[in-house]
Amino acid sequence: MAETPKLIDSKGKRLDGRKANELRPLTIEAGTLKRADGSAYLEWGNNKVMAAVYGPRECHPRHMAHPARALVRVTYNMASFSVGDRKRPGPDRRSTEISKVTSEAFASVVFLEQFPRSSIDVFVEILQADAGTRVAALTAVAVALADAGIPMKSLLAGVAFGKIGGTVVLDLGKDEDNYGEADVPLAIIPRTEEIVLLQMDGDLTAKEFQKGMKMAIAAAKEIYEVQKDALKRRYAVSVEALEAEEGAEEELKEETVEEEA
Ligand code: CDP
Repeated sequence: MAETPKLIDSKGKRLDGRKANELRPLTIEAGTLKRADGSAYLEWGNNKVMAAVYGPRECHPRHMAHPARALVRVTYNMASFSVGDRKRPGPDRRSTEISKVTSEAFASVVFLEQFPRSSIDVFVEILQADAGTRVAALTAVAVALADAGIPMKSLLAGVAFGKIGGTVVLDLGKDEDNYGEADVPLAIIPRTEEIVLLQMDGDLTAKEFQKGMKMAIAAAKEIYEVQKDALKRRYAVSVEALEAEEGAEEELKEETVEEEA
């Protein structure tokens, strides 16, 4: 068996030079897909994720529709080329599980009762995977839903903490995920600090768990800022485009008036 690499040094530095409570670099762009009602593209460390939202729209098949509220249906898919060993295309147990827990997390923040009999369909494509793709997906989907104008109680931030070499750390990378002792992915409402998804792989003491939760809640607030910034940038672009459009209309009007005179 291959020897476990030393994941954290005596000074608390991790393999990629991060400190225990440091996230991998995160960037988000909202509204990247023209044909979807809402979309977001996210890069988080080496993870690359695209999320697209359609709806609210009539729910098909009809027998699945709920008379009093909308359904949130998330489909998480990992591209064959997203991982080192080619992934067999199509759904599997893991993607079915991630789709289910992500749908449930968003069902707790979307105002579902505003759209009876409808569905809000969300598709997540993992283009490149490097551990933490479910929390990357959650973070991207929140922005895509907001971009689609879906009314929500709040945005959700996905983030994971875990334990490597006996130390509690934030946002595990691939080697840390493979060789670490625990991984706890979470979906958090940053404003209220409510937890709407918690999964746990491995073992932690109660104290370690509390320490990790503190780190994750602080990180969720950081992620929330990146999410809001992505939406603000999207809006700013729209305003510019609108102004340019209005300017062109004004010019046309002036030309017409001159011609008539
Ligand atoms: O991605 P996340 O950490 O949320 O989920 P996971 O099931 O703990 O998977 C951890 C990582 O294993 C993924 O991010 C991928 O990098 C990798 N993986 C893979 O290489 N091949 C698969 N079929 C599934 C996952």
